[in-house]
Amino acid sequence: MELERIYENVRKQITFQPKAALILGSGLGNFADTVQIEETLDYHAIEGFPVSTVPGHKGRFIFGYVDEVPMVIMQGRVHYYEGYSMEEVTLPIRLMRLLGAKLLFLTNASGGINEKYRAGDFMLISDHISSFIPSPLIGANDEKLGPRFPDMSDVYKKEIREIIKRIAKEEGIPLQEGVYIQFTGPAYETPAEIRMARLLGADAVGMSTVCEAIVANHMGMDVCGISCVTNMASGILPQPLSHKEVQETADRVAPLFERLVRKSLTAVYQERLK
Ligand code: HPA
Repeated sequence: MELERIYENVRKQITFQPKAALILGSGLGNFADTVQIEETLDYHAIEGFPVSTVPGHKGRFIFGYVDEVPMVIMQGRVHYYEGYSMEEVTLPIRLMRLLGAKLLFLTNASGGINEKYRAGDFMLISDHISSFIPSPLIGANDEKLGPRFPDMSDVYKKEIREIIKRIAKEEGIPLQEGVYIQFTGPAYETPAEIRMARLLGADAVGMSTVCEAIVANHMGMDVCGISCVTNMASGILPQPLSHKEVQETADRVAPLFERLVRKSLTAVYQERLK
């Protein structure tokens, strides 16, 4: 099977044993600067591994320590809109679990649907809506990886969220909490789609993360996620959306985002994994 072959390939190249995994979304590109890097592996060096087609998205695994936490970090992820299957998009999550990660820390950029939010806010993901994307679990189930019908009632574990909320408070970093909805993209949403998503209970919208959380949950990982609200979603403000605005906001709040993620990660590790 493809996953096993890729796992064997990576194990030949990497000796590091991570306990937690982190995916760097927009705005966390420089996160690696604070990591004590032990090993790195370009996605290109792994035969059959999905690589990003988005300009400016680096694609490599970083293995090393964030404070004392042994980590595997994805600098760059692939998205469904790039043409990969959901199984391919989420293969890196399965790989990181096989490499040893028990905790998955997800980050992303999103559009704010909740009108109380502002561009530059951070949102702790409390739950998600996956109904508009294909499930990454469709197809024959491998019982060695997880159950056919996984429970989804506490994907973003409440206990972990409590730790992160405490850390945000201690650090004086305002933190919203809400529901993230994933659409396929790549087009941004229409105002009507955003009104629909709000009616359905979504607070922020993006094009990643949910499929990854589903697969991590399938494999029994602890999952948490923080979204950087880089813009207000379509139709809320009298201006068009642009990738440039998304990047500019992400870059502006990057130092704060990095600190929130690093401190949260360390606290969750100390209190749950160590
Ligand atoms: N919609 C979808 N994805 C996004 C957005 C948005 O408004 N902002 C950042 N990623």
